[in-house]
Amino acid sequence: MSVPRPLAGHAALVTGAGRGIGRTIAERLAGDGAAVCLAARSHDELEAVRAAIEAVGGRAVVAPGDLTDPAVPGELVAYATAELGGLSILVNNAGGAHRVRPLEALDDATFARGTDLNYTSVFRMMREAAPHLFAAAPQTGAAVLNIISIAAERGLDGMSYYGGAKAAVAALSRTAAREWGPRGVRVNCLGPGWIDTDLSRPLLDDPDFVRQTLAQVPLGRFGQPQDIADVAAFLVSDAAAYVTGSTLFVDGGLFA
Ligand SMILES: NC(=O)c1ccc[n+]([C@@H]2O[C@H](COP(=O)([O-])OP(=O)(O)OC[C@H]3O[C@@H](n4cnc5c(N)ncnc54)[C@H](OP(=O)(O)O)[C@@H]3O)[C@@H](O)[C@H]2O)c1
Repeated sequence: MSVPRPLAGHAALVTGAGRGIGRTIAERLAGDGAAVCLAARSHDELEAVRAAIEAVGGRAVVAPGDLTDPAVPGELVAYATAELGGLSILVNNAGGAHRVRPLEALDDATFARGTDLNYTSVFRMMREAAPHLFAAAPQTGAAVLNIISIAAERGLDGMSYYGGAKAAVAALSRTAAREWGPRGVRVNCLGPGWIDTDLSRPLLDDPDFVRQTLAQVPLGRFGQPQDIADVAAFLVSDAAAYVTGSTLFVDGGLFA
């Protein structure tokens, strides 16, 4: 029996693909048949992901770069389209909160760095990818998926700059969905709840945080990257052909 490959013929660019949620999304999209360009800063981590994808018969290329550098989004898109022959799926996943401090103690550099990574880079990636997504849409359909956070909707102490940036991505995505819908490009957001990755590890290692947080999660566990990747694969596929301008929170029921 042949394995279904719903993303066969697609070319995908996934940022933050070296570990955690982005790695698992990239592996899932490749498993579904997409050729994938893997982006992050760490070349070694990207090579390990490429090897894992190729070991199970997938296709991947790596594109190291720091997304806070204004030149990098254009370079990544140019490389991905040249290597993969186009671009039909863009997953903006790279992000994170680098420091946790209350707003009154937040310095300009931390705010600017967090905004550059979590918001400005997403705008630049979408702008650079746009002509390629428009070109691909009539053949395969095209989709953008932006990974935001529960912090976009709910205050998280000490993470004001992060929540602000993620909420800005949601707003940007809604407008892009309106502007790009007529061009055949869908734009959605996925908001993970608390997911077990290196990013959340310091919190997940704190027994008080674990007890208090799980008391608010109806499904009674932290999410795994695969929980996010499975929904991401749905949102960029034809199974979600009538879904655009939406944010889907994958949070174990935290927002219920
Ligand atoms: N884990 C959670 O509980 C959770 C919850 C809500 C939302 N999210 C969101 O989900 C996304 C992935 O989170 P994660 O937990 O998987 O994080 P992670 O384990 O820290 O992985 C982040 C990925 O982004 C890359 N990255 C970071 N800074 C970068 C930069 N300046 N340029 C290029 N790539 C960069 C990292 O690689 P390099 O360091 O090598 O660049 C890595 O591949 C983020 O947008 C995060 O905000 C996570």
